Amino acid sequence: MVSTFAALTHCIERELHEVQRLFDVEIESRIPCVNDLVRHVGRFRGKMLRPMLVLFSGSACGKLTRAHVTVAAVVEMVHMATLVHDDVLDEAELRRKGATINHLRGNEAAVMLGDYLISHSYHLCSSLDSQFCSRTIARTTNEVCEGELLQINNRGRFSLDEKTYYQIIAGKTASLCGACCLLGAKLSDADDEAVSRMDRFGRCIGEAFQIQDDILDLVGDVKQVGKTLGTDIEKGKMTLPMIHFMHHAPHQHRELLQSLLESRDADKVERIRNLILPSSSITYAQGRAAQRCEEAIRTLEDLPESDARRALEMAARLVVDRPM
Ligand code: IPE
Ligand code: IPE
Ligand code: MG
Ligand code: MG
Repeated sequence: MVSTFAALTHCIERELHEVQRLFDVEIESRIPCVNDLVRHVGRFRGKMLRPMLVLFSGSACGKLTRAHVTVAAVVEMVHMATLVHDDVLDEAELRRKGATINHLRGNEAAVMLGDYLISHSYHLCSSLDSQFCSRTIARTTNEVCEGELLQINNRGRFSLDEKTYYQIIAGKTASLCGACCLLGAKLSDADDEAVSRMDRFGRCIGEAFQIQDDILDLVGDVKQVGKTLGTDIEKGKMTLPMIHFMHHAPHQHRELLQSLLESRDADKVERIRNLILPSSSITYAQGRAAQRCEEAIRTLEDLPESDARRALEMAARLVVDRPM
């Protein structure tokens, strides 16, 4: 699946390479112990979904410029910062098939490295002529923090409703994907209507992406996904399959889920997985993610045909079809 995703990138290969180079150069430190951490981040690359969204959106709406490459590096820095902090919150040990910073160096170093990455993203973004990108990135990181804080506030609330779940994922994940597409379009001089449609596209696939990620946290294979799984259950975060199960499964099954979620059993993640897997709740969540992707694809209808538009459509389909 990773290779399928990588196959998307042929029309932006050169720019993506420049993004990676800019990312590495910008976050390098003269202080060796800081650089050790920075190199660790650079060694374990992710899918680069967010830079791809900037570049494909830019290319689908007009011409790619140097500013697209800058913004693409900025969004990957923001994303990386949120992951480093998120792994502290989730006490995760594995990320991108490597050890997390908190596991390697402890929470204090991870909190500071996350701050270091986010401040580098603002520094780089403010090198652009217009303030529009900086304002958009800052607004977006506010939204990401709101989403994470809303999630923390609802930890252990096993009766969580779908509406609040969608509000959480809209903030913590979809806002950044929306900003990637919005900025890509804006930097290609797209009109306001097209810019706002690209924002909608990004937000839809961001939501689909997080629903799929939450399904994988429950039923994925750690070797394939490459990060610590089961943390949503361990941390009492209710995700879509569990919310659906809690509201629709037979009464006895709901009670069993509630007592497992409250327990401290060492095998509770596995027992919850075995309880939910035969139900319709995974399929329900997959259906919701697929709906969001279809909605995303519909927002592209007015764009002219191009490789980049096709790549955006394919990206929308891949996010719900991934063990990645
Ligand atoms: C992980 O994002 C965080 C979520 C929003 C679920 P990705 O799965 O895009 O992470 P990398 O960058 O590929 O590691
Ligand atoms: C966090 O969600 C998404 C962020 C915005 C960082 P998750 O906790 O589900 O992300 P993973 O599964 O650890 O990548
Ligand atoms: Mg996490
Ligand atoms: Mg997850």
